[in-house]
Amino acid sequence: MSDVSTGNGKVVVNRAMSLDGFIAGPGHRMDWGGGRPLADFVAPEDFAEVAAATGAMLIGRRTWDVGSRMEAEDPGSVDYPFSGPFFLLTHRPPEPPGADVTVLSGDIGKAVATALDAAGGKNLEILGADVAAQCLWRGLVDEILVYVLPVLLGDGIPFSSPGLTRVDLEPISSARSGDATILRFRVRK
Ligand SMILES: NC(=O)c1ccc[n+]([C@@H]2O[C@H](COP(=O)([O-])OP(=O)(O)OC[C@H]3O[C@@H](n4cnc5c(N)ncnc54)[C@H](OP(=O)(O)O)[C@@H]3O)[C@@H](O)[C@H]2O)c1
Repeated sequence: MSDVSTGNGKVVVNRAMSLDGFIAGPGHRMDWGGGRPLADFVAPEDFAEVAAATGAMLIGRRTWDVGSRMEAEDPGSVDYPFSGPFFLLTHRPPEPPGADVTVLSGDIGKAVATALDAAGGKNLEILGADVAAQCLWRGLVDEILVYVLPVLLGDGIPFSSPGLTRVDLEPISSARSGDATILRFRVRK
């Protein structure tokens, strides 16, 4: 349980990752093979279960920009069965910010507390390598959920950002889900 949480929700870093540890390829491209979106690799019931447990998302600006670009290039490619509030961390608020989007800036602990409150007792998903690293570094993350995808990308954006030091984890579960393997870990504090 997070030390900033007010309900039962957990702070969860949620990632799709190649077997060789990249969360995106060169140029931030999330191409996991065959032009298939992440939702196509994971069993629909598992994807829906994770989304249903999520009450809010805290998203870094670069992730936001990559998602917007992917949606523009290939509509529907980043669709996720989630309809709760989004919190965008940026020093450059987009115009217009978009429906259900609150722009936050500054202290990561306050941003996580704000977004977790809005999750209404469900989980807060953290999206973005830099944002996740800030949260891990500050001890704000309860769990890490990784969709391991069947590809070796060879190059790209690694799971850990530069500067993130050692984090010890406790395994919760591992399960095959469609063409993905879902790994869950508790963060030792
Ligand atoms: N595979 C997956 O599941 C998955 C999931 C999410 C993302 N990704 C990938 O991860 C990459 C993006 O991650 P990233 O590490 O490059 O960037 P990121 O964490 O998405 O965003 C970092 C940016 O957010 C803003 N920011 C962060 N902390 C802030 C704070 N405390 N206050 C104000 N603004 C703050 C800053 O942008 P400004 O200063 O410019 O505003 C910063 O440069 C992309 O390649 C994306 O495809 C993969």
